[in-house]
Amino acid sequence: MHVSSRVSRMKESATLAVAARAAAMKREGIDVVAFGTGEPDFDTPANIKAAAARALEAGMTKYVPTPGTPEARAAVAAKLRTENGIDCAPEHVSITAGAKHSLYLALQCLVDPGDEVVLPTPAWVSYRPLIELAGGTCIEVPGAMERGFRITPAQLDAAIGPRTRAVILNSPSNPCGIAYPPEEMRALCDVVAARPGVTVISDEIYEKLVYPEVEPGLRAFSPGSMPALRERTVTLNGMSKAFAMTGWRIGYACAPAGGGAFMRELVKLQGQMTNNIASFFMPAIVEALSPASAPQVERMREAFAARAKLVHALLSEIPRLRGVAPTGAFYAFPSVAGCRGLRSPAGRAISDGQSYAEALLAEAHVAVVPGGEFGACAGDHVRLTFACDEAMLRTGLARIAEFTASLR
Ligand SMILES: Cc1ncc(COP(=O)(O)O)c(C=O)c1O
Repeated sequence: MHVSSRVSRMKESATLAVAARAAAMKREGIDVVAFGTGEPDFDTPANIKAAAARALEAGMTKYVPTPGTPEARAAVAAKLRTENGIDCAPEHVSITAGAKHSLYLALQCLVDPGDEVVLPTPAWVSYRPLIELAGGTCIEVPGAMERGFRITPAQLDAAIGPRTRAVILNSPSNPCGIAYPPEEMRALCDVVAARPGVTVISDEIYEKLVYPEVEPGLRAFSPGSMPALRERTVTLNGMSKAFAMTGWRIGYACAPAGGGAFMRELVKLQGQMTNNIASFFMPAIVEALSPASAPQVERMREAFAARAKLVHALLSEIPRLRGVAPTGAFYAFPSVAGCRGLRSPAGRAISDGQSYAEALLAEAHVAVVPGGEFGACAGDHVRLTFACDEAMLRTGLARIAEFTASLR
């Protein structure tokens, strides 16, 4: 059967592919340490599960408005106002099937064929395919490891041209595991503010996972809180990471532009696609954003902060690897350039992150994601997720240390 060129051209999600390979090895009885998937090991907090169960029991099983119930939209808007300083109302919000769905909808609404979208890299694997699916061209702006993978205002300014429709900002970042200090984010936003017609897509899915324990004073910053960018920002967020709700598929987009005119277009597209997400999740969203959930979110954040320190300490002891201390999200992104030109015990040649990751999985049974998937500048890196318990982290990193030392 024919497959459209826009889909056949599209790359499969590399992170999902690594997870599938690791799961297949596990099914064969191989003891694989999976550092591939960006998914918290914690269960969803009980009060959030109970809210969904109650709604289901009460018969909340019918269609609701496409962008969500008034209560859930109001809870999201209140959160964005009080926690993020974004001047928005419920009608500026739509609740979608994950932040990924929000990103898809936003790009489809913003980008025409021939438009450019600027993307600081290394960046999450789904940005480029979804930009290209919308007919856009992805302009990568490489963040150097020596600067903690953070791009400069001058780099951003140079990348914005007459065809630039949007700039994607993602702090804390997947895969870099870093967060921009607020003043650096502000400086990048000032560059965008000076260029009329350019929208910021701010992916804030990891906003609650910031580690001032590692970099004192660090906190998240929302571009949409800047008055100059209020009407030119689409803020993306969701429940997956901070609330340990990846499988629920709950995300949201917020755009106050044109008094809600942009959001009405986005909801029009969503209405032709999926309608509302599962209706009985709506009370669970309200519960998740209520003060009752905050202590549990904070406990998970503290656990991730401790793991960030542990992973960095263990990676720093491996002579051929180089990285930066994770300050946000739950990823470490070391360079394996120091292994280039060596061979594994089974004779595999190591030339980059891809060959390192393949040899590591085959011979040491540790799954990591090759860095090249996250941008042209990241071919020498691999991504490790530390969203797993300490014992597994220690086992996996001991295997990585032993494997890396065994290269000749
Ligand atoms: C940067 C970034 N944005 C968005 C997402 C998607 O999140 P969701 O599960 O809400 O679709 C991910 C998931 O890995 C991510 O890393």
